[in-house]
This record gives sequence, structure tokens and C-alpha cells, in this order.
Amino acid sequence: MALNDRLTGRKPPVPTDAANGDGRNNGVRPPVRGGPLPGQSLDAAPSMYSVKRDDEGTLNPLDQLKVDLHRRLISRLDLDALERIKSEAELTSQIRQAVLEFIREEATPLSQRERDEIVEQVIYEVTGLGPIEPLFRDRTISDILVNGARQIYVERRGRLTRVNATFRNDAHLLAVIDRIVSRVGRRVDEASPMVDARLPDGSRVNAIIPPLALDGPILSIRRFSTDLATSQLVQNGTLTAQMLSIFESCVKARLNILISGGTGAGKTTFMNALSSFVPAHERIITIEDAAELQLQQEHVVRLETRPPNAEGRGEVVARDLVKNALRMRPDRIIIGEVRSGEALDMLQAMNTGHEGSLTTIHANTPRDALSRLETMILMANSNLPNRAMRDQISSALHLIVQVARLSDGTRRVTSVTELTGMEGDVITTQEIYRFARRGISPDGVVLGQFESTGIRPKFLERLAVAGAALPAEMMGAGAW
Ligand SMILES: Nc1ncnc2c1ncn2[C@@H]1O[C@H](COP(=O)(O)OP(=O)(O)O)[C@@H](O)[C@H]1O
Ligand SMILES: [Mg+2]
Repeated sequence: MALNDRLTGRKPPVPTDAANGDGRNNGVRPPVRGGPLPGQSLDAAPSMYSVKRDDEGTLNPLDQLKVDLHRRLISRLDLDALERIKSEAELTSQIRQAVLEFIREEATPLSQRERDEIVEQVIYEVTGLGPIEPLFRDRTISDILVNGARQIYVERRGRLTRVNATFRNDAHLLAVIDRIVSRVGRRVDEASPMVDARLPDGSRVNAIIPPLALDGPILSIRRFSTDLATSQLVQNGTLTAQMLSIFESCVKARLNILISGGTGAGKTTFMNALSSFVPAHERIITIEDAAELQLQQEHVVRLETRPPNAEGRGEVVARDLVKNALRMRPDRIIIGEVRSGEALDMLQAMNTGHEGSLTTIHANTPRDALSRLETMILMANSNLPNRAMRDQISSALHLIVQVARLSDGTRRVTSVTELTGMEGDVITTQEIYRFARRGISPDGVVLGQFESTGIRPKFLERLAVAGAALPAEMMGAGAW
């Protein structure tokens, strides 16, 4: 079926129609008018979300007609087909054509101007994110944070700044939020005022609206940049080349690695980078709340948890997925972030031969990460005594990598800590690398350098046994 037909929900025409027909299908597009006038942004154009209402709050008949038409149009458009069109000009022209035809079929008494307006609104509806649209297209922006209609912040190269744009009002912002999340099959309304979703490009979206958010709808878009390759992490000072090559060996030698850090510290990004070292012949299963990992390997099975539906049923938590993944003959299990009971299942899996797993945890120090793991094990309703719990942890996990977002916006691996065993009831650890801060320069740059602590990691033997290539500097005597 031609795209244009799918857009309008029309049956494909039989070929003879096209030959002697009205010329719709011969590739000639109807002349296009409309579009924002020079100097007039779409955002400033009148919109369905700001149609005038009389005092009773009802619409005048013409506005009502426009609203109806608009709604039916949107429900008939094949948004998936639209999403696959890469060229913007092509997209716009396809929508315009489909909409004009739809309006023609309707035989509604609309002036040319009103028709153009509807065309514009639909294009905007399908493609537009209102005032954040240009921000969204700007690839140098990593995060877009909207605090109600009037406040929009962006993060660029690690720095948060407020931008001038605003939404018209909270209803406008809500409409944009709705547009974003409904396209990925989620919804946000009073019954479910919080939503966490992933956009087709991998960006992660969170929205929370009143009454939970006190000052209007809040939208947080965190772009997951796929282009932070391992080499860029070295270039931008996240870690040194030597550290990276050690991590490469650790991943290949199937060490279980926990990446710890605060929100936005770069945990997911770092885990994604580490995952690139998993050999291509292994079967990888990923488990995430909102899939954002972008694994390069071919043999990857991606699982995503599911929130409960409006009636509170149908929830599938990470723990269920971990248990299921174990029955899928995984070589590696990668869990986006451990938050709760799944931590226990993951540790048990690591202890029973599923080694080489990677996951992240929200914690401020490696010690904090360990105590959080304990709390999570408790959430799994296990009756493990403390000592047994710590045994599980210390025998399962090999490395904790602490990442942080420093005050100047840079991300650093601030500590690489090895778990070495137990002493009495306490898990013993040793730090192998750290980022030593030396202060802050007058222009706000955090000064410091990566340091090897000089301790020889226990995992070196493991790396050697696994045949992982050791970095040359680690082979020489006295390197540690
Ligand atoms: N090492 C890094 N260098 C530069 N930017 C980074 C780095 N790690 C993450 N980022 C950026 O920081 C933001 C948050 O990263 P993410 O990995 O999602 O954090 P977390 O998982 O810890 O919440 C993203 O926009 C990402 O592009
Ligand atoms: Mg993350």
C-alpha cells in the first residue's frame, strides 16, 4: 500500500483508477500552501490546545469541528509509517498531502486559511515537540529538563543552562508530554501521573504531573548518546587508556562488574562502553526498566520490565525477568540497574556459573554500593543472615567501578575497587585506581589526576588464566 494511502487509511486504489483517475497517484503533489509565515513560529500559531472557549467552556461550532477533524485525522494517520521517514521535507509533504485529501473528502465548510491551519497543526502534532523541538534536534544537548511551562533547562557538555523558550501554558506542555509518551505506548494522566519511557532514538523520558508535581508537569529527557565510544571516554578524560585496557581484559575474562554512581553520573554510558568488549559469539540478555543500552553485538536478547496497568495488574518486575533469563541459556546477563530484589537473583546467578555479568547501582561510594546491595537482598524477602548475605556478595562480585559527575560537568571513573573476600563479617575490598582531586581552577575546572594505588589486583591471575591480554605495563616487574 502506498504510504499516502496508509496515512489516510484509504484502501489501495486499483491500477485503472490511477490511469484515468484524478491524478492523485501519479506522483504529482497538490500545490502546497500554508506553513508558518516568515517570522512566525509554529509555536506562536494558534493551536487546538488554545482554541477559544466561551464562558461555559464549550467551543463554538467551527472550533468544535476543527477539533473533531483534527482528532479523527490523528487517529487515522499511521504514525509508525511516518516515523520511518527520515527526510523531513518528505515527511512534511506526505503529511500535507494526506491531510489535504482527508479534508477534501470531508466536504466541511472550511476556508483555505483554516485548512492550512489544520495542516500545520497536524504536521506539528506528528513531528513537533513545541518549544523543545529545536532543542531535541540539537545533538550537542544531552538533557532537556522542563519544569512546568515556563522553565526549560538544557545540559550541554555537562553544563546546565536555562533557555529562553517557554510553553504557552501547562496544558500545552501536557499535550507535548502526552504526544511523546503515547507514541511509545505509555500514557500519563491523573490515574498514572508518572511515566518512564524510552524514545525510538534511545533517549529516556520521564514525566511526572500534578498532583504529584506541585508546580505543573515536569518533563525530563535524558539523551542517551550512542556516540560515546570507548575511545571518546578516554579522550574526554573519563578514564585513562590503561584503565580502559584493563577493563577490556576484565570483561573478556568474565569478571562480574558493578558500576556505581549517582543519577546522570554516566553509569549506563560506561556499562554500554564496557559491553562492547563482550565477545561477539556470546549470547547476551539485557534486562532494563526502560531499554537504553545499545549493544553492538548481533546476538542480543532485550527484555524490558512492565509497569502495572491502570487496574494495577500485569506488572513484570526485573526479578521475574532475571529468573526467566536464566532459563534462556544466556552467556551474559546485563541488568540496566539493580534497584530491588533482582539483586539477589543476579548475585545467585553470578555465583552459579553465569559470570561476566554487568550491572549498575545508584550509590555514592563503593562501600555505599555494597550496603545498598544488602538492602536490596532484604527486599527480596530472603531470610539470609548478614554473614551469608555478604558471602554471596563478596564471592559473586569482582569489581566496583565508581563513576561521578564532577562539579565542572565532566564524568570520571573516581574509583576502581576490587572485592577481595571476607574478614569476619566484613567484606574486604582494595582500591586499585582512583581519581585524586587537587582542587578547582579559577574558571571552575576540577583539577586532578588518575592514580594507580600500587596495589596488585587479585584478578590479575584470573585474567592470565582466561588468556586475556594484559596491558604491557602490567606485565613488567614492579608495575604495581
Ligand atoms: N563519560 C562521559 N562523558 C561525557 N558525557 C557522559 C559520560 N557518561 C555519561 N555522559 C552523559 O551524561 C548523561 C547521563 O548518562 P547516563 O549514562 O545515562 O547516566 P546514569 O546511567 O548514571 O544515570 C548522558 O547525557 C550521557 O551522554
Ligand atoms: Mg542509567
